[in-house]
Amino acid sequence: MNQADWKNKLALIRDGFLSGLAAADAAALAELETHYLGRKGELTLSLRELKDFPLEERKVLGALGNALKEELAAKLDARKAETGAGAVDLKKSQFDLTLAGYPFAKGSLHPLTLTVDKMCDGFQKLGFSIAQGPLIEEDYFNFEALNFPPDHPARDMQDTFYVDLKDASGKDLMLRTHTSPVQIRTMKTRTPPLRTVSAGRVFRSEAVDASHSFAFHQLEGFCLDRNITMADLKWTLEAFMQDLFGSSAKIAFSPSFFPFVEPGAQAAVSCVFCGSEAACPVCKGTGWIELLGAGVIHPNVIRACGYDPEQWSGFAFGAGIERFAMLLFGIKDMRMFYENDLRILKQL
Ligand code: DAH
Repeated sequence: MNQADWKNKLALIRDGFLSGLAAADAAALAELETHYLGRKGELTLSLRELKDFPLEERKVLGALGNALKEELAAKLDARKAETGAGAVDLKKSQFDLTLAGYPFAKGSLHPLTLTVDKMCDGFQKLGFSIAQGPLIEEDYFNFEALNFPPDHPARDMQDTFYVDLKDASGKDLMLRTHTSPVQIRTMKTRTPPLRTVSAGRVFRSEAVDASHSFAFHQLEGFCLDRNITMADLKWTLEAFMQDLFGSSAKIAFSPSFFPFVEPGAQAAVSCVFCGSEAACPVCKGTGWIELLGAGVIHPNVIRACGYDPEQWSGFAFGAGIERFAMLLFGIKDMRMFYENDLRILKQL
């Protein structure tokens, strides 16, 4: 066979295939496929004949043959799609594809995790980044650098669990009693201006009741920059509360003491659940809900972290996460968060 004959043959194959294709139903399509493109199909066999041609001719003819093969396969697929051939015939399948699937239990996040995420989101929107610190902490970070001198009575406020291990300076390690040490660790490892929040577990030797636990969660935040005042703190907390509880939320400060801030304050948010009604179970008619400890960072703390308090100033705040979660989810007893009773958790 010479080149011209072979090309002729290819043209006949193409014509034959196309005229068959136009009228084919699903069954005829399968036949057409076998007849032309199957293992012993006309086109397949013709391509095999190429081995008898000289190399140069084989290259040219091979390209033609392959192009035709692709063209026919594409046309066949298009026609199959039109006629619905190739779709699964539900009646013939050995499986009942109409049966419902097995129900698959979907997990969800714990209300405390949801609360942490929501609070961190709120502060991230205000330009805060996230920091982390260890649960087993050194005296230096948990107390000393936070301006709690050794044997100072302020340490009694924090009923500490000590661990039977010593730090490098020979002092007992402890379970951190608050998230404030993350402020120190952050100031010592990063350079200002700084704005960070850190959420996590803290531990105190306390009896468990509806509003206390030996292990609970806090969110700590602080800012270190130039010329920071109580006004920056108030604006930040108010913007955060409005994001969380709605645009009518207001912040009020009352004086309080924490060794690492001066002035120190309790920050309360206006009760978003009532209009100061005496019967309101959340604010007890006061119109305010105390939610955070806060203040302007004490110069001793700034100095301990290696900065000049004449140059740098900052604010800090710390909040109990369970308290926020109780408000957000309308829960009165924080033990519910730890008992992990799925019947209750699933309702949240
Ligand atoms: N660390 C304090 C506590 O656990 C809470 C706190 C109060 C944190 C005032 C602060 C702050 O950053 O400024 O009782």
